[in-house]
Amino acid sequence: MDLLLLKKLLLSLIAATTAAVVISKLRRRRLNLPPGPFTLPIFGSWLQVGNKFDHHDFTNFAKKFGDLFLLRMGQRNISVVSSPELAKQVLLTQGIEFGSRSRNIVFDIFTGNGQDMIFTEYGDHWRKMRRIVTVPFFTNKVVQHYRADWEVEAAGVVEDVRRNAAAATEGVVLRRRLELMVYNNVYKIMFDKKFESEEDPLFVKLKSVNAERSRLGQNLGYNFGDFIPILRPFLRGYLKICKEVTTRRLNLFKDTFLQERKNLASTKGVVNNINGLKCGVDHFLDAQHNGEINEDNVLYIVENMNIAAIETTIWALEWGIAELINHPKIQDKVRAEIDAVLGPKQVSEADTLKLPYLQAVIKETLRYRMVVPCLLPHMNIDQAKLGGYDIPPESRVFVNAWWLANNPAHWKKPEEFRPERFLEEESKVETTGNDLKYVPFGVGRRSCPGIVIAMPVLGITLGRLVQNFELLPPPGQSKIDTAENCGQFANRILKHYTVVMKPRN
Ligand code: HEM
Repeated sequence: MDLLLLKKLLLSLIAATTAAVVISKLRRRRLNLPPGPFTLPIFGSWLQVGNKFDHHDFTNFAKKFGDLFLLRMGQRNISVVSSPELAKQVLLTQGIEFGSRSRNIVFDIFTGNGQDMIFTEYGDHWRKMRRIVTVPFFTNKVVQHYRADWEVEAAGVVEDVRRNAAAATEGVVLRRRLELMVYNNVYKIMFDKKFESEEDPLFVKLKSVNAERSRLGQNLGYNFGDFIPILRPFLRGYLKICKEVTTRRLNLFKDTFLQERKNLASTKGVVNNINGLKCGVDHFLDAQHNGEINEDNVLYIVENMNIAAIETTIWALEWGIAELINHPKIQDKVRAEIDAVLGPKQVSEADTLKLPYLQAVIKETLRYRMVVPCLLPHMNIDQAKLGGYDIPPESRVFVNAWWLANNPAHWKKPEEFRPERFLEEESKVETTGNDLKYVPFGVGRRSCPGIVIAMPVLGITLGRLVQNFELLPPPGQSKIDTAENCGQFANRILKHYTVVMKPRN
């Protein structure tokens, strides 16, 4: 009896699989899909392409298949665009059609299936969340309010390094101190909170749980389970860890930072910081009390900002400092510009706009070492047309922004780190996406709202470091190792390097 049932089950499974393959073949024949590598039923191109691919692999595929190609990876359709014209279609002209986000199985866990803002579909929920976050984070008023804090934080880095005699001889892993600075910049806006030192136990705990989330999310090794559902049982342990880390993180945000703010509100009655401006979480909690969002949404906003605002800025600083060390003449030129324009005065937010060469160095860093090289994955909910091809519904759509910014068809000697290009032949190109060949923050509806914070923070920090120190490779090394560590969405420097920092008088 059991055997008969098993036989029936097997037969139905074979029939269903055959029908699925035939239907998908017929459907494919009707669709005019973009070109791409050879595919097999169920696996697509996964057997040839594997789990690990990044913006360099996408560039090689573009050279073979053209400016729009399709990778069929198991159940996922991944379309990649590699020309400014197609990028314009995805990000601007058809910005609504391609304005959703594609999540993978791990990001489903991290975001409670898109209850956040960054990884949610385009629509009312996203609009509401983006509005709620914009008021406390992304306006000029916010920048004017917090810029003095960013300057104080950068001054703290300079002071701490000056105090550490070993920094001038053996060197320091500067990243560790910069992490404290960037956390303080963001936590001041979000919670009106400051961590006093790298050893602060709460800071250590927070950093550790964020690093775990980042490692689990960026890992490319789990792709197989995202692409091919029948292989998902092999990921059971991994997904369990992702769930545990998510719970631990959200509880930390809720029980510590949110609770602290709520307690303050109940004892003081008002939740204004000393300067009379509500901090970010006050706005999120107001929106919760008004019934616009729920408590989970509040926690997911906090979760989003912990990654989007903090990690990206640290990665960009790490790349910028590495390039300045590896190009001492460029470093000298930045210093000479600051000395000439400001004299002994320390770089402020307003000063960064008076320092065109410093600005060019930041732009070149974001071009050459783009930290989010393919932007975050966009998605079309419905079937769409792009470049004359059909894009199946719910495709993951990447814009290979790194290749747009490093393609010799659009740039003079893109393989050279040469900030001068942004003062010479590319002087009109801005970070805001006025030219689609350079979109390090994206452009359009889903572009990075944090650009208003990131650019001044990069300017103040890099400016003050160069102004106060000669930045050199560690003893016995002539250069910083700039090997890359590419993840799902990020391009980071592989090794957290040591910097020798000789104070200037
Ligand atoms: C150097 C620093 C940064 C870089 C290079 C960067 C880059 C990006 C990129 C490429 C995107 C995706 C755009 C797209 O998919 O079209 C993005 C999205 C986003 N970024 Fe940034 N970012 C940086 C800093 C920040 C900061 C400081 C914040 C917050 C204070 C922030 C908040 C966000 C948010 C909320 C989104 C999602 C927008 C949405 O989906 O509607 N970013 N960022």
